[in-house]
Amino acid sequence: MPLLEVDDVVVQFGGVTAVNHASFEAHAGRITGLIGPNGAGKTTCFNVISGLQKPTKGQVRFEGRAVTRLPVNRRARRGMGRTFQRLEAFGSLTVRENVRVAFDIHRGVLGMLRPAASDVDALLERVGISAYAHERADSIPTGTARLLELARCLAGEPSLLLLDEPSSGLDESETDAFGDLLAELAQEGRAVLMVEHDMDLVMSVCDDIHVLDFGSVIASGAPSDIRRDAAVQKAYLGYSDSDDDGLPAGAGHVGRGGVDVTRTDLPPVGVDDMGDETTVLPAVREPIR
Ligand SMILES: Nc1ncnc2c1ncn2[C@@H]1O[C@H](COP(=O)(O)OP(=O)(O)O)[C@@H](O)[C@H]1O
Ligand SMILES: [Mg+2]
Repeated sequence: MPLLEVDDVVVQFGGVTAVNHASFEAHAGRITGLIGPNGAGKTTCFNVISGLQKPTKGQVRFEGRAVTRLPVNRRARRGMGRTFQRLEAFGSLTVRENVRVAFDIHRGVLGMLRPAASDVDALLERVGISAYAHERADSIPTGTARLLELARCLAGEPSLLLLDEPSSGLDESETDAFGDLLAELAQEGRAVLMVEHDMDLVMSVCDDIHVLDFGSVIASGAPSDIRRDAAVQKAYLGYSDSDDDGLPAGAGHVGRGGVDVTRTDLPPVGVDDMGDETTVLPAVREPIR
């Protein structure tokens, strides 16, 4: 049984259909990638899963039970942990204090247990940010702040980790270490569901991938299948300099709701895959807001 099931979810914002009959799953012990161009509906799906957004239609099931009507805090208590694309740490607290507070919030509701200092330090060590323990959270590099966000999430001991663009701001060696950490977290039995633009990371760590485009799941499968999928190639490479939008390839395409849809984040495909010239586009990451 999948730990998480998103079943035929629709989300409409006025006239905009952000999620369009999307169904996908995430399994314990596996890393699942949710990818797609900017504006595809990935964050909205995360909001529906975690309870921040009520779906217009459809169900979310967690451990086999419908949670669609449960508020955010009750889903968190059942084991959903989430990081945000927009960073959420307390800026005036130190890195260590931020993790300690996250422990307090989690354990506070369960009893009077204060986190042992060693638990806080072990978690900082685990995500690799011990060196920043005594820095204020608003003074650390973005990549470190993302790892802090992950540590805060792990303090809640989630069985499902929802990570929204966790690697943006990490350099190459930090990204490698991050990939190893994700593999470990999955091996321990957690389900990891990750929205991520770094396709090297996605293709190397994910067991399963679901691709969203304009709110619909257009492909699901193993990384090797996704790479070869014609619909996926079209979604990512369908806008190029042959379009008459007056923009150079990779400069973005204004999608629904005025969103700048940048479709350049899948690695180029080979000649054999496309039966056409290889299109080499620069990797573009979403700006950090
Ligand atoms: N609160 C909102 N109100 C109106 N439109 C929204 C809202 N949130 C997202 N959208 C729209 O829904 C679509 C999907 O957005 P989002 O889920 O953020 O995409 P992604 O995370 O894949 O980049 C976009 O067209 C976006 O403008
Ligand atoms: Mg998003």
